[in-house]
Order: sequence, then structure tokens, then C-alpha cells
Amino acid sequence: HGTSKINALGHLEIGGCDTVELKKEYGTPLYIVDEQLIRQRAREYMDAFKASGLTFQVAYASKAFSVKAMCTLVEQEGLSLDVVSDGELYTAMQAGFPVERIHFHGNNKTPDEIEMALDAKIGCFVVDNFTEIHLLQAMAAEKNQTVKILLRITPGVEAHTHEYISTGQTDSKFGFDIGNGSAFEAIEVASKQSQLQLLGVHSHIGSQIFEVEGFQMAVERVAAFAREVKEKLGLTFQVVNLGGGFGIRYVEGDTPLEVSQYVKAITDGVKKHFAGIGEELPEIWVEPGRSLVGEAGTTLYTVGTSKDIPGVRKYVAVDGGMSDNPRPALYESQYEAMLANRANEPVAETVSIAGKACESGDMLIWDLALPKVETGDLLAVACTGAYNYSMASNYNRIRRPAVVFVQDGQSDLVVRRESHEDIVRNDLIPARMNKQTV
Ligand code: LLP
Repeated sequence: HGTSKINALGHLEIGGCDTVELKKEYGTPLYIVDEQLIRQRAREYMDAFKASGLTFQVAYASKAFSVKAMCTLVEQEGLSLDVVSDGELYTAMQAGFPVERIHFHGNNKTPDEIEMALDAKIGCFVVDNFTEIHLLQAMAAEKNQTVKILLRITPGVEAHTHEYISTGQTDSKFGFDIGNGSAFEAIEVASKQSQLQLLGVHSHIGSQIFEVEGFQMAVERVAAFAREVKEKLGLTFQVVNLGGGFGIRYVEGDTPLEVSQYVKAITDGVKKHFAGIGEELPEIWVEPGRSLVGEAGTTLYTVGTSKDIPGVRKYVAVDGGMSDNPRPALYESQYEAMLANRANEPVAETVSIAGKACESGDMLIWDLALPKVETGDLLAVACTGAYNYSMASNYNRIRRPAVVFVQDGQSDLVVRRESHEDIVRNDLIPARMNKQTV
């Protein structure tokens, strides 16, 4: 992917940086992010929308990978930003991200989070349920503010993907259902609130989707809903947000489309189905996460121990695992990997890559073909840019890795490796235990 290649020394190189050198400088495990590739993907989204002639916003779903440098990159590329918690909002604000381009999502925004977002004067709230309509109205009234909102609706489209990450179907904790009338009622209720300016609706049908059909169906259903709302209430949607979910290639056999193909399917669908509903076509927003950053990330590990069970399997353990990448354990996600320090050597054995956490389920890759693996080798796992650092934990009190951005032979630390001190930073021993520590 991206700027990755094998250099003259037979080492994996990303963004012009030799991974063997990166290990010397930063240690492992290390998340390496190909900055150029993220910028390229961002431009693919922007260019595809520009080509459509529609008005649009591309918001990066920061849940995929939320750190200050990423917010800055996203700002520079002209994208907006979707946040789903006070933590993501705080990160964006700390990076100086333009607040009017921030959209706040989530099915249970707390009063504190809403207050923080109101005070920050963010661009838009994506309202998920009736409780939130009333809470937001009351809090905005208290502050004498008017807030722009979208209503999250569930169009009943079930994305063809892993069931834990499908959110478009009727039985979902998210949003107002079109099918049972709750979406219509939500429009009626929200449009009567004095402090809420209803811009339109939002729909997100799932994640890691390879086909355009789901998006086309969602557009069609949202348009039919828009038509009903226009006819019965005389309201038109200024904005329609079609969420994220565009797939990437983790392993051979994954068949994602090009960014431009997803965008074209959506914009063509909008032109076809929204024609004649209002005076003009709505502004179209999308919020990709994975497809902007997933392929740009590589995790570099050092190989430690191994265990050969003759006739059964050889386990090779690395210095990270489910604490930096919980996706295989959570979703049975598959990854490809290579030996970064001996990238040209022929395949010699099949091994299974284990993490170091005290849990049998901590396996990163089963049955991986590699050159003869030795302790001290570097293993590079590809496509770890999305939902890896952002889902990392301190399970077993393992310290979270550092993150570096690489570009044109330069590497820059964007997240420091956690220290031992970080691990105990919030721990307290009650005074009554009368324990003397240094
Ligand atoms: N918008 C909304 C409302 C979402 O819920 C999501 C993802 C996105 C946008 C971005 O979707 P993307 O373009 O990244 O597919 N942890 C899981 C993925 C969870 C996705 C949750 N929502 C994983 O590691 O596969």
C-alpha cells in the first residue's frame, strides 16, 4: 500500500523510512503511519465530490484514529471532523481544529459532553433519539443558543459485513427508524424546537462495505423519506449525511472499490432520487474513517519467543498483540504481515503470530507464510491505521505504543510511547492503608 517498498538492504521502507532504522529510533511495537497515503485518500474523496458538482462535506470519522496530528492533517486537507465523545472533541480542540467543521455523534451524549460542545460552538449535532432532542433543546435554551442538527435515521439497510459492525438495520441501538414511523415523528418534534435548526438527516449503514448496493439503497430510502416529509410537513432537507463504511483491502481476497466509485454511486443516487423533492439537491455529507487511515498504518513488532508443537503448529510471539490491535480477537479480523528486516527472503515456514497478553485469544494472525523466523526479527503487520491505536488498551498494564508519521524519508513522533509512570498516573493508594512509597 501507499509508499511502502523493499529497499536495497532488503528492508521494508515506508514513506522513505527504513523500518529497521525506525525500530532503532523509536522501539517496538510501533505504529507507522504513511502520511502521504492519508492525504492521497482525502484528496480522492474531495476530487470525487467536486467532480459530482454537488455541494458536499467530507468529515473524517475520528473514532478510527484520533490524535492531534491527525486532526491537523484532516484540517489541512479541507475535511470536516466527526467526533463521538468529549475525548475526541477535546483532541480536535487541542489541535485547533475549526469548530464549525466539527460534527458531534453518539447515541448517549452526556449533559457534560453537550455542554462542552455547545460552549465550543461546534458546527452540528447528529441527534440520535427523543431524549436527546429534548435535552439539547433545553440546554441550548439555557445558553440562549441555536444549534444546527441532523437526525440520525435508520433506513433499514443491512450492510453486508460482520454483524457486530452493522448499524443500518431496524434492530439497532442507533437512530430513528424510518420503517416504524419514529423517524417521521422525530422530524415533527425536532422541527418544532425553538433552539434547534434542523438541517436534515443522517444515515450510516455499517462498516468495511465492499459493494455500492447498500449505499444506493440507503440513498433511495432516505430520498423516499425526504419526499414524504416534504409532502406531509412542507419541510426540505438542506443536508443529507450518508455516513461512512467504505471498505479497504486488509488481505488478498478483500475486494473494496475505489473511493471515487463509492462517491459516484452516492452522488448519482442523490441526483436520481432527490430530483424534484426541493428546489435544489441537498448538500451531501459523508464520514469515512477506515478508508482514510486504515491502509496507511503498519504496526512494527519485534519477534520474541516461539513454541513449536510438532505436527500441529508453530507459535511465534511478538512484543504487542491484542493490547495494540484487538480486532482479530474481537471480530476475527484478518491481517497480512511480513518480516520487515528480511523482506526479500523466500518463504520457509508457516507460523501463527501470538501476542504477549495472558489470554489464549490473543492471536494476531493464524497460519502466516514467512521466511525462517528468528528472535529479534521485525514483523510488520499491514493495514493497522484504523481502529488499532484508537482501540488500544492497557490490558495486562501493557504500555501503548508510540505512533510516528513518515513522509519523504522523515519520521515524526505524533504520540509518545507510554511510560511506566503513565501506567500508574491515575492510581491512588488510600491514606488509611498507611503505606510508605518512594
Ligand atoms: N459514521 C458513523 C455514524 C459511524 O458509526 C462510523 C463507524 C463511521 C462513520 C465510520 O465508519 P468507517 O468509514 O470507519 O467504516 N471498531 C470497528 C469499526 C466500528 C465502526 C463504528 N462506526 C472495527 O474495528 O472494525
